[in-house]
Amino acid sequence: MAKYILAIDQGTTSTRTIIFDKSGSIVSSGQKEHEQILPQAGWVEHDPKEIWDNTREVIGQALSKANITRHDIEAVGITNQRETAVVWDKTTGVPVYNAIVWQDTRTQPIVDRLAADGGVERFKQKVGLPLATYFSGTKIVWILENVDGAREKAEAGDLLFGTTDSWVLWNLTGGIDGGVHATDVTNASRTMFMDLETLQWDDEILGIFGVPKSMLPAIKSSSEVYGTAHTSSLLREVPIAGILGDQQAATFGQAAFDQGEAKNTYGTGNFIIFNTGTEIVHSKNGLLTTLGYKIGDQPPHYALEGAIAVTGSLVQWLRDNLGLIGSADEIEALAKTVDDNGGAYFVPAFSGLFAPYWRSDARGALVGLTRFVNKGHIARAALEATAFQTREVIDAVNADSGVPLTELKVDGGMIANNLLMQFQADILGVPVIRPVVAETTALGAAYAAGLAVGFWSSLDDLRANWQEDSRWTPAMDQAESDRLLRNWKKAVTKTLDWVD
Ligand code: G3P
Repeated sequence: MAKYILAIDQGTTSTRTIIFDKSGSIVSSGQKEHEQILPQAGWVEHDPKEIWDNTREVIGQALSKANITRHDIEAVGITNQRETAVVWDKTTGVPVYNAIVWQDTRTQPIVDRLAADGGVERFKQKVGLPLATYFSGTKIVWILENVDGAREKAEAGDLLFGTTDSWVLWNLTGGIDGGVHATDVTNASRTMFMDLETLQWDDEILGIFGVPKSMLPAIKSSSEVYGTAHTSSLLREVPIAGILGDQQAATFGQAAFDQGEAKNTYGTGNFIIFNTGTEIVHSKNGLLTTLGYKIGDQPPHYALEGAIAVTGSLVQWLRDNLGLIGSADEIEALAKTVDDNGGAYFVPAFSGLFAPYWRSDARGALVGLTRFVNKGHIARAALEATAFQTREVIDAVNADSGVPLTELKVDGGMIANNLLMQFQADILGVPVIRPVVAETTALGAAYAAGLAVGFWSSLDDLRANWQEDSRWTPAMDQAESDRLLRNWKKAVTKTLDWVD
């Protein structure tokens, strides 16, 4: 019997492969960044071909580092940046346009057009999402309306749409040579097209958007065998048996399987997911209703989600656009050169503001500046922005659920930053907890795949793998954290109404 599960994590900035053993420990990994294509303000694209090439390469890296072959891999799980839309020609396998990334705001006019009749919450009851540029639906519409010949080819049934899980799955299972065109419920729940109750594409909404159903992947559970890797692949004949959008995968990897459990992932953005069990809960406080996971034929688990567009990517911006730091991990040392933010607040509304505001007209602001403020303060304000945004989303989660969270499980790249984690605990007023295996996104996809093929037999097996590594407890005086939060909220008001 094979000994490992391989997870592919197709993320916003890179594609990674991690191989896990039965205890959920990392055996080896591979990683490659892809280009962020920024043709104009507000536009963010990826080259799908580069993503697929990188996927193959990082699979090879992880296998060779562990000195194993496909024979040692029991199953493959896929997790992915969600909402990023790829449209390709199924007869050639060639994308008709670059992938339009979840952060891209070019579809605002399409959002406005659709919202003119019924407002942004027009479809929210059915799909759990407000109309916003974030979700994939309007990105498909943009491609159909702006790429020469795309509409005709789509109507003829020649084009396929997928988020990057589907793109990777289709290619891995053979592409034009019989590739499987499918996605899972969590990714489907980010399009605007899936009915939360039936877990099927909704014909009425598709008609309003003008998107042919033939383009869409089959909606499957998050844990089942979708197909096997093509004979041309390093993984040939290995079953692909798990798919979860990356934030749902991180929740699964944190073993937050039950109603009332939550996690916060600190990536390019921050994503707080609160498991609401088998109940669909509609937020009154700016959260999304989304799928948590679905294992095979079992009933789905739903979740409330607070999506924050810009957290870690603000650190990248300080590095790439301002040259304030040479590498992302220098931010902590720079922030430590000062004792506090010096009165500066940085609201990184680069893609508008997501939860809990959902204001696409917002733009970033750095406020509270005096001559006293130096680059240490700006670094600190940038880190604090992550914690303040998280606090506002946790307030919304607490208000919706009626039962305040008593601790927060965290994961993602930025949790290596102790200054941020301590400040986060201070601003939340509850402990922040990091697990031993912090690569929860890939782990969640591995878990979903491993459950489907019997590598793990139950959720209890997976719960037993979860172990606490570190814990930050609140140490700040309450009056001080209240004052900081008040100032943050004032700073947020300065970012609104910028787009005219
Ligand atoms: O919704 C967007 C999210 O799935 C992207 O996550 O970690 O790839 O930035 P990440």
